[in-house]
Amino acid sequence: MNITKITKAHGKIQVPGDKSISHRAVMLGALTEGTTEIKGFLNGADCLATIDCFRKMGINIEVKAKTVTVHGNGMYGLKQPSQTLYTGNSGTTTRLLCGILAGQNFNTSITGDSSIQKRPMGRVTKPLALMGAQIENEYCPLHITGTRLHGIDYHMTVASAQVKTALILAGLYADGATTIHETEKSRDHTELMLSAMGANLSVNGMDIIVKSTNTLSSVNADIPGDISSAAFFMVLGAIMPNSEITLTNVGINPTRTGIIDILKNMGANISIENIHTSAGECIGDITVRSSSLYGTTIGGNIIPTLIDELPIIAVAAVFANGTTVIKDAQELKVKETNRIRAVVNEFTKCGIDITETTDGMIINGGKAIHGADFKTYGDHRMAMSLTVLAQMADGQSTIDDSNCACVSYPDFFNDFYKLGK
Ligand code: S3P
Repeated sequence: MNITKITKAHGKIQVPGDKSISHRAVMLGALTEGTTEIKGFLNGADCLATIDCFRKMGINIEVKAKTVTVHGNGMYGLKQPSQTLYTGNSGTTTRLLCGILAGQNFNTSITGDSSIQKRPMGRVTKPLALMGAQIENEYCPLHITGTRLHGIDYHMTVASAQVKTALILAGLYADGATTIHETEKSRDHTELMLSAMGANLSVNGMDIIVKSTNTLSSVNADIPGDISSAAFFMVLGAIMPNSEITLTNVGINPTRTGIIDILKNMGANISIENIHTSAGECIGDITVRSSSLYGTTIGGNIIPTLIDELPIIAVAAVFANGTTVIKDAQELKVKETNRIRAVVNEFTKCGIDITETTDGMIINGGKAIHGADFKTYGDHRMAMSLTVLAQMADGQSTIDDSNCACVSYPDFFNDFYKLGK
């Protein structure tokens, strides 16, 4: 596909619902006793894969546009699926399912697409095994023999909300307490939602303690816009001259807002209004205006709060004067693709001065760049980041697979070109 260029970006966008919260609302809704109405659900391929898996386990789920109704069957109401559960491209579906399925009284198999089959699952299967889980393989397909679990005291070895959530979910089924110690705070949507549902869970600083829970009560979910999707427009508005973009109703949970802090550090003109809280989640309208950016260093504890945004932050760095160093971001290597390698390969094609490091990249920005024929590696966030990058390049660019954006943002290109009109 040729990437059409716009010359200014103006307007308001309601980005689609948060992917992490949409997954959790379906999964936890399925385990409640009642009916959960989810408004603003992300109809992206990843969250639809979650719905499909729970339907295969007997859960009645209705989808009407962006409203999803989950008819929960209780903590012990899932049925053995007659087929392998297929999670597509979705790491969240795969890893969180391991936590739920390890403690069932039936067996399951899980697999996904070629990318998911290469992503490490040992990071969930190993700590789950300490709880007594029986999961065969460290890569998909995974074969889970449902069994009785027991609580553990676990120090996280990787800052991952997917690992943490898998352990919390298993902890709901385990005998005794499960205590999870985080060293870096990762997104806490599971903790917030489970607390609202009355689970036996408490958070004490960096520690989470969960005990077995027989009943979860259903709570209706109004899902805010995904800050990881808003990120593409935040960077577009900042780097493109004569631009002003407002992103309405975006989730600004503090475990997710690293991108706002970093863009502000880089000199971006960003303001947030209408800040309010719904079901424990903080929400606001974000406005970004054309800005002069300068390079910065990004590393340490902030990384988990912006991990999915690093490809688009790298785009901001290209148009920032000076050097940007991204470090402590080795987790990027095990995302939908190796995002360090993918960003460096594709950016190099445009004449960008970028170097791959063991845990990130170094970008010398503020120089003119030219268009190129880009590869997305089937990665939705690469497709959207490269589209923003191409806007500011001299000449034409192409992208090999724009469709993969539908994993998290099916209307991305429509929304994008609306801003240019
Ligand atoms: C997610 C956690 C993050 C993130 C992913 C969604 C979640 O992954 O990259 O897109 O919903 O818990 P990790 O837990 O592997 O860091």
